[in-house]
Amino acid sequence: MDETERLSVTRRDLLITGAVSAVAPILPVGPADAQETPPSAGNSMQVAFTVNRSGRKLELDPRTTLLDALREHLHLTGTKKGCDHGQCGACTVLVDGVRINSCLSLAVMHEGDTITTIEGLGAPDDLHPMQAAFIKHDGYQCGYCTPGQICSAVAVLDEIKAGIPSHVTDDLTTTLEASNIEMRERMSGNICRCGAYSNIAEAMADVARSQT
Ligand code: FES
Ligand code: FES
Repeated sequence: MDETERLSVTRRDLLITGAVSAVAPILPVGPADAQETPPSAGNSMQVAFTVNRSGRKLELDPRTTLLDALREHLHLTGTKKGCDHGQCGACTVLVDGVRINSCLSLAVMHEGDTITTIEGLGAPDDLHPMQAAFIKHDGYQCGYCTPGQICSAVAVLDEIKAGIPSHVTDDLTTTLEASNIEMRERMSGNICRCGAYSNIAEAMADVARSQT
């Protein structure tokens, strides 16, 4: 094979290889081709935690999010699934007093933790002050984001009281105050498609004033 033929074969091989690799990702993958086998029920894990002051034990697929464990396994449907991607805050719950997006956290990571959902903050005849303030100030319209907003709002006031700075805190040497800008910044991860933001801020300011 002379040099011209060798180059021509190499170029043809390259074109064939490129075409195959471009098509490969869109070919259907049959069961025999599957590279990973999802965990079966036999691969479930146990987790025990406290939810709203009650000890709970669950046997879960380890891929179950805390949000799904709460909603689908414990039937605490007050916590809402908005985006399931950590972008809306509808799934906010308190874990050991700190707010988290429960859609971004695996349930089995919470062994021994204390979890509070909207159902555990207060009851219809014994509302948490933040729940009462949201009602007083009309801090909602459709209400879908509201459980997450309220859990977040409770944690925000605790963060400010604990002196934890935010992106807009400009003076780290003085006592932090629950100013409008501090509260709005800290609530920016909780989206409300109804746009109840001003009323939510008023509700939070009301509770903050009552705590001083
Ligand atoms: Fe968790 Fe949107 S559902 S952040
Ligand atoms: Fe409707 Fe917030 S009250 S999304």
